[in-house]
Amino acid sequence: MKTTPPVTIVARQPGEPDPDLLGLALAHRAMLTDVGRLADTVAAIRDGQPCPPRRARAIARYTELMCESIHHHHTVEDKVLWPVIDACAAGIVDLTELTEDHAALDPRLDAIRRRANAFRIADGDGRTATLLAAELADLRTLLTEHIGEEERDIFPVIRKYISVANWQTIEKTAQRTGRLAFDGPRTLAVMSDEERAVAIRQLSPPLRAVIGLLSRRHRRFERVVFASSASRDRSSTAAVR
Ligand SMILES: [Fe+2]
Repeated sequence: MKTTPPVTIVARQPGEPDPDLLGLALAHRAMLTDVGRLADTVAAIRDGQPCPPRRARAIARYTELMCESIHHHHTVEDKVLWPVIDACAAGIVDLTELTEDHAALDPRLDAIRRRANAFRIADGDGRTATLLAAELADLRTLLTEHIGEEERDIFPVIRKYISVANWQTIEKTAQRTGRLAFDGPRTLAVMSDEERAVAIRQLSPPLRAVIGLLSRRHRRFERVVFASSASRDRSSTAAVR
């Protein structure tokens, strides 16, 4: 991640509305959705579903991008969000366990990248699919637990102690340092129809066009990776046409 200056703390004012945590919740939703369906996809290949070399390459690339996105998410939390929580809610919450989770997840993400590369080189054979499927299943378990704890323990603290101005700075930092071509379409795809309609109304026409283009491209990528299971993205792609 590009280096980011520390956030200047803006104190929360009495009567100020709570920060809107939908963006963070959607990032979590996208991660869990993708880890789950990738684990299922590779398990199906392990169990005999056909995987031509082109699909193996696409799965390896998708896995690599997903690991990069998860690592980026945790880096923003460690380097940007946690310091703001420490400054605004000192003594209210202990971030040690969540920070240790991030440190423990990094070597797992590296192992998955190595397994995905071996899967690509072996043209998606059963042996490398077995190893990759096992790693992805472990990641699904760890991430589900970690995100559950984070939303239970941290979301109420952010709502109560962090100003809207600081929250917007944190969100902008996450967006600026992330990969829009991958994260944008995935975020749109996990929104409910109502959430998507609101989000699209807030985009400028040029940005709406860019997101539409990226979503159509991402959907073609997904069709190769997930074979028959890319239909969930159809409505999100249509919404930004
Ligand atoms: Fe998170």
